[in-house]
Amino acid sequence: MKGLLLSGGSGTRLRPLTHSGPKQLIPVANKPVLIYALEDLQRAGITDIAVILGLNGREQVIERIGDGSQCGVNVTYIDQGAPLGIAHAVACAEDFMGQDPFVVYLGDNILRHGIAPLVAEFDEGACDAVVALQSVDDPERYGVAELDEASGRLIQLVEKPKAPKSNLALVGVYLFTTPIFDAIRQIEPSWRNELEITDAIQKLIDTRYIVKHHVIQGWWKDTGMPEDILEVNRLLLDDLVPCVEGAVEGGGVVKGRVSIGRGSVLKQGSVVFGPAIIGENCTIDAGTYIGPYTSIGDNTHVSGAHIEDSIVIGDSVITCKETIVESLIGDKTQIRSTDQKLPKGYRLIVGSGSSIDL
Ligand code: G1P
Repeated sequence: MKGLLLSGGSGTRLRPLTHSGPKQLIPVANKPVLIYALEDLQRAGITDIAVILGLNGREQVIERIGDGSQCGVNVTYIDQGAPLGIAHAVACAEDFMGQDPFVVYLGDNILRHGIAPLVAEFDEGACDAVVALQSVDDPERYGVAELDEASGRLIQLVEKPKAPKSNLALVGVYLFTTPIFDAIRQIEPSWRNELEITDAIQKLIDTRYIVKHHVIQGWWKDTGMPEDILEVNRLLLDDLVPCVEGAVEGGGVVKGRVSIGRGSVLKQGSVVFGPAIIGENCTIDAGTYIGPYTSIGDNTHVSGAHIEDSIVIGDSVITCKETIVESLIGDKTQIRSTDQKLPKGYRLIVGSGSSIDL
């Protein structure tokens, strides 16, 4: 079985972070979402993997993943070009897949228990595709499945319906065999001008191919919006294994499950309450409080701020004396206090698509 990892899309719902890179490289608990997917494929024994590249940040993805050897897999890159939909991305990999069955993994999805149960379902045989489902509160955001009441079989899939027939959302992991390529050739672009994978799977069902479904256990998240990213950060930090490689100076306080990377220093008078992770080469000065559910990326200097339930991607300097909560702070950012400077007021240099609550 081969793997297909999707890293295209424009990430409009995550601007301004996606002005400088693809959404799949945004780190949660200090690791890009895409890398969790790659590691998950590897754990399921899938090592021959094509990564679909979009127009946004393709070089950064190549730089981060390389040939895949760091994650124990072999990676081949395929350019999708314009973001014309998930089914279009799958069609781009037809030659790479040949006659092999394959797993499609959306690079912005993350699953608590991984894909091994789905691969096992497929390995039981007698099916042409397996889709993963989970109950959600807001099915209209996703592809939605309808099951036949009597047989329990999957009968219909609709992409982002206004009036969902169930609360079973389609998870962004799919197992396919070669008939999916013919099905994709038969579908038309949707209202959002994308070739929807949901429509292609419906085509398989309508042509009497056997499409099994598997309701997954454990949490699953599509990290399409800032609040999803913060939620995944919390969920991952709940499972954090503490590891202190950096230095905690006398008088620095660490409570609960905390990870501190190599070269980082917690100065006297700083406090970190877990679960929290601090990357490599960070300086946490006196008077700083890093609260629960916070991830601070590498090469960051925090002096005096209180930061809680937030992600600081990295390479940043935060010297304000304010309290920052539920925030997603892009890389190479500076946040300062300018109490003394007149005229008094907030001084903002903020990119297009930013969101600020003062
Ligand atoms: C895509 C799929 C949708 C699926 C979702 C899972 O949505 O089209 O069917 O439920 O991924 O993450 P998109 O992220 O393109 O809005």
